[in-house]
Amino acid sequence: MSKAKLVVMISGNGSNLQAIIDAIESSQLSAQILAVISSRANVYGLQRAENHRIPSIVFYQTTTRADYDADLGDFVANLKPDWVILAGWMRILSMNFLRHFPNRVVNLHPALPGQFPGTHAIERAFTAAQQGQIDHTGVMVHLVPDEGVDDGPVLATETVPIYHDDTLETVEARIHAVEHQILVDTIGKLIKN
Ligand code: GRF
Repeated sequence: MSKAKLVVMISGNGSNLQAIIDAIESSQLSAQILAVISSRANVYGLQRAENHRIPSIVFYQTTTRADYDADLGDFVANLKPDWVILAGWMRILSMNFLRHFPNRVVNLHPALPGQFPGTHAIERAFTAAQQGQIDHTGVMVHLVPDEGVDDGPVLATETVPIYHDDTLETVEARIHAVEHQILVDTIGKLIKN
């Protein structure tokens, strides 16, 4: 069976990218990363790509958002990926990009479906827990059909408890550990189909 071809899009630390790389290198995932694309320069995720000799590119916005998404869509489509993985990609993608990859763009979000969409999801969940509104949050992986933020057909979810003696840092660490696993597991299921 040929390896699934992935493009991984990041904006920062890239710990989820690292989880995918590690799963590939340990043969847990039968995949190859064609390229890592970052929306920001000088982020550690780019170093991770370099460490593993994966081609990477920073895609700056120099034009309108519509043109940026169209250019980015053309660039990624030329790579001919089977799957586009948004692993901490912090920009909303419009149809100029998404139209190239129907049912092929996968996003990871550190909250459960319908809860805390957008940025600072973990901080907002932690604050809600401190106020006694919730006692758990979670992680989801979903398809990105359109511009809906952290919304789309759900592929996997996992709840993550928030305890009374948690700090933001302990909640973040618990969520990131779950993210790394659920993202790799979900990619594994997708590429077997
Ligand atoms: C993750 O929590 C992801 O869900 C969110 O941004 C974070 C990226 O972490 N959208 P990393 O860059 O993979 O370490």
